[in-house]
Amino acid sequence: MRVAVIGGSGIYDPDILTCRRGERVDTPFGEVEFERGRHGGIDVIFLQRHGAGHALPPHKINYRANIWALWQAGVEAVVSTSAVGSLNPAMPPGSMVLADQFIDMTRSRASTFFDGGEFGLAHTDFTEPYCPSLRSLLLTAAGQNGLSCHDGGTYLCVDGPRYETPAEIRAFRTLGADLVGMTNAPEVVLARELGLCYATVCLVTNWATGLGQGRLGHGDVVTVMKQNLEHLRLLLGGVLRRIHEKGRCDCGPPMAQVGRHSRLPD
Ligand code: HPA
Repeated sequence: MRVAVIGGSGIYDPDILTCRRGERVDTPFGEVEFERGRHGGIDVIFLQRHGAGHALPPHKINYRANIWALWQAGVEAVVSTSAVGSLNPAMPPGSMVLADQFIDMTRSRASTFFDGGEFGLAHTDFTEPYCPSLRSLLLTAAGQNGLSCHDGGTYLCVDGPRYETPAEIRAFRTLGADLVGMTNAPEVVLARELGLCYATVCLVTNWATGLGQGRLGHGDVVTVMKQNLEHLRLLLGGVLRRIHEKGRCDCGPPMAQVGRHSRLPD
């Protein structure tokens, strides 16, 4: 399967691709830029979620255009990276976590392709929001590279760009959140709607507000992300070929397949 990596905060150049070339594509939702490159003999696409120079705040990212552009480029599997705050004492800063559930607390984002307009209407199953087979490949690659990685965690997505209040974090804990971030919803939703295998490697950059350090700034988040970049590189380097070789799983809902064939020439 063709693989794409979506880089979040602090991951502006994963340094895992050779022969890189930029590409600008049109989608029904707007223009998208990404890079194509090679990794260990396979084609990989790298998309920087926040755009060049981290120009786009989380609530202004054109998630629909990004996911559509990858799908249009023939991508079938997406591994994304996400900086997150932790609400779970077992997941301290520096931890890597493969999210297996999410809670969407965003309010201001276009979060579906199926809004009854041009692409019709569909109710997509979200029993397993993140592809179990991608997660298992990531977990194996982590183990083989001596990296510790939590298997499973609930990612709660907020709009941002501000960080949370301590009261919000206390409320989110009662909802069952382990991690808080600003980008996984609707990214994972849109990927599932188009039948892509999608997994996210969450890198805990800080304790959620009120649980640890004092005030929190974006600089602190990026610093911790950069300190752990080598782990992410190792993990991605150890997994991309295996994903490329993996077969299709249950991630493709029928509705997305209908959409794919009706819109795009073979
Ligand atoms: N909250 C929301 N998003 C984040 C955080 C946080 O604490 N850390 C990194 N991204």
